[in-house]
Amino acid sequence: MNILVTGGAGFIGSHTLIELYKAGHTALVVDNLCNSNPEALRRVAELIGIDAIPFIKADIRDSKALDSIFSANHFDAVIHFAGLKAVGESVEKPLEYYDNNVNGTLVLLDAMRRHGCKNIIFSSSATVYGDPAEIPITESCPKGQCTNPYGQTKSIIEQILTDLQVADPQWNIVLLRYFNPIGAHPSGRIGENPNGIPNNLMPYITQVAVGKREYLGIFGNDYPTPDGTGIRDYIHVCDLASAHIAALKPIEQKTGLNIYNIGTGHGYSVLDVVKAFIRVNGVDIPYRIMPRRAGDIATCYCNPAKANREIGWKAQFTLDDMCRDAWHWQHANPNGY
Ligand code: NAD
Ligand code: UFG
Repeated sequence: MNILVTGGAGFIGSHTLIELYKAGHTALVVDNLCNSNPEALRRVAELIGIDAIPFIKADIRDSKALDSIFSANHFDAVIHFAGLKAVGESVEKPLEYYDNNVNGTLVLLDAMRRHGCKNIIFSSSATVYGDPAEIPITESCPKGQCTNPYGQTKSIIEQILTDLQVADPQWNIVLLRYFNPIGAHPSGRIGENPNGIPNNLMPYITQVAVGKREYLGIFGNDYPTPDGTGIRDYIHVCDLASAHIAALKPIEQKTGLNIYNIGTGHGYSVLDVVKAFIRVNGVDIPYRIMPRRAGDIATCYCNPAKANREIGWKAQFTLDDMCRDAWHWQHANPNGY
């Protein structure tokens, strides 16, 4: 299939491009590079063994740019990664987040409709479950109250896509609810490249390991979990990438709207991750216990059985693999791209 990949220069998009080409698909990337570097695409091409990944620098809110892209190319489906994703920033800048994520998706969907491409895989998030009503979380768990505008944009876009598919059953839509993607491509050539102080656990740990930060702050050790620190379902970004290839199956089979949890089904605490990182990589990670971070929940992990049953996808990498590959990337690229 030929796939339009929005946000393909980013962390998850770049890893997904490799899996797409490995599976025999081709892609064109649209990205405005607001949170990424074209060097990622150059390295992806190098890893795949092609000259270049077709790329157009454009904003998905630019309807004219999308029109010319759709007029010049035939796409069998769109994988839609483009979006802003920093939870804290979304609290400060709600209008920017709703505009970029929700309005951007509306503009994209309208262009897709005009050009007769009605197949889309959307990057959703476990955040739509809020403080989950059940653990492990299945797809039938009700959506919850999101505590920040970023999470709201994911929930609203899911609703828009659901309404669209009801109105026009020709649409085939897959909502992938990612749990916590970490790690990097085992080559160490591509990985997560956050701007400024990392918001998320693993990039913070790797920046401590490489000497850019003095110590890790652990946000609370008084949660109702065995060691008191928060529990999450960490998933290797290459496993997450391969879930998108599996998700093309229901698109090809034209089965309407499908929702899948994409996680390993294992919950690890912050201290589990820190200890695994130290053991696997032989580097020290000094840490201090800090107050809880606003909006955090105690425990979040999924039951990924539906994705296994229906699209034949299952995570392969372990937490040790995630720690090794995250460090390999950071160590080889201390300043990112
Ligand atoms: P990322 O920031 O690395 O990648 C997003 C890409 O989209 C970037 O390259 C950015 O430049 C581009 N982009 C943003 N707004 C755009 C616009 N208006 N037009 C064109 N390009 C635009 O983030 P990521 O971690 O790769 O996440 C990809 C998707 O997955 C996002 O939608 C994110 O919300 C979602 N997601 C991520 C996580 C996570 O923990 N990383 C978890 C759940 C869901
Ligand atoms: N944590 C720390 N110190 C840090 C960073 C994180 O102790 O410096 C802890 C958090 O409190 C939490 C765990 O590590 O217990 C994981 O935190 P992350 O920020 O890495 O991930 P979250 O689960 O908070 O958020 C991630 C994505 C969101 C997404 C959410 C639910 O960043 O985009 O998963 O899918 F919405």
